[in-house]
Amino acid sequence: MSENFYQKTTTAPTTSFDVSLRPPVFSEFIGQEKVKDRLLLMVEAARQRGDVLDHVLLSGPPGLGKTTLANIIARATGSQLHVTSGPQIEKAGDLAGVLTNLQKGDVLFIDEIHRLHPAIEEYLYPAMEDFRLDIIIDSGPSARSIQLNLPRFTLVGATTRSGMLTAPLRSRFGLVNRLDYYTQQELAQIIERSAGLLDIPMQRDGAMEIAARSRGTPRVANALLRWVRDYAQVKGNGTITGPIADAALAMIEIDAQGLDEMDKRILEALIYKFNGGPVGVGSLAVAVGEDAATIEEVHEPFLILQGYLQRTPRGRIALPAAYTKIGATMPPPADGQPTLL
Ligand SMILES: Nc1ncnc2c1ncn2[C@@H]1O[C@H](COP(=O)(O)OP(=O)(O)OP(=O)(O)O)[C@@H](O)[C@H]1O
Ligand SMILES: [Mg+2]
Repeated sequence: MSENFYQKTTTAPTTSFDVSLRPPVFSEFIGQEKVKDRLLLMVEAARQRGDVLDHVLLSGPPGLGKTTLANIIARATGSQLHVTSGPQIEKAGDLAGVLTNLQKGDVLFIDEIHRLHPAIEEYLYPAMEDFRLDIIIDSGPSARSIQLNLPRFTLVGATTRSGMLTAPLRSRFGLVNRLDYYTQQELAQIIERSAGLLDIPMQRDGAMEIAARSRGTPRVANALLRWVRDYAQVKGNGTITGPIADAALAMIEIDAQGLDEMDKRILEALIYKFNGGPVGVGSLAVAVGEDAATIEEVHEPFLILQGYLQRTPRGRIALPAAYTKIGATMPPPADGQPTLL
């Protein structure tokens, strides 16, 4: 059950629940202080100059607040937000349609921007740099190129994989704003804010208990909160206390570090099937029956952060904490050589 639960919460499209809990302004957006400070500064600078905000790139694992920040940026600059995503823009004409719909100062949010087709990316470069679109109409001998001037706009790109962005695209954004996993304290604050909005009575230790198991991710925190609320209502008196949260989360098999079934399966495969690695992500993916991109984007960053796994040039290796976690013994170092671990 927990595996499905996390898949739903980490890779599922945004739900109305997400939307209702989404902080609308910077002051309600908890954590990510560096990113917030930079964005606030950019917004203020643009406002003082009476200019349009520079293009912004947001990167980081799913559920950390990229879409939320795009909404906040649009609101802070008093502009209209247009939302699309890399895979949605299939043809140059799709992009032209989106761009020619913009008004001066509008924010265009392109989610999963690393999945833009390379040919489409080429059209985006002059649009970002010179607010100009060169399109080719007709084909064969009658083909000709026409230029359209676009209003000045702000592109906000979001990606879970900044490494997959091409260098030319990345360089057209001023800064890469990387979102990091949230601390337990920050998550507890987010959970308390959400509980307040949803009128759920909660004690501090209840929030801390949920926060500890939210894998550093607000979307997971909010989803767990929803489950714990149901549990508290049926099994308790409605108030979320530490013990209630603990019992509720035990029921869906989420362990004290927030690892889910798939995380554990990855560590087990790494240790038992590949002798602790190094192993390529492709082989690991086959062994656990999950696609490689999901492992790289959703599971690995968290396992790395927690010190269970390391990415090396030769592949993934299990760290001592992984052996402890799944109760396996570490193999002795090969021919008595000193080991880094
Ligand atoms: N800093 C924050 N403070 C409070 N709530 C937050 C914060 N960041 C995210 N959230 C909550 O988490 C939910 C998920 O955030 P969001 O949809 O912005 O993530 P995302 O990074 O766009 O994820 P994905 O990569 O899957 O698109 C939001 O609806 C919001 O309720
Ligand atoms: Mg998003």
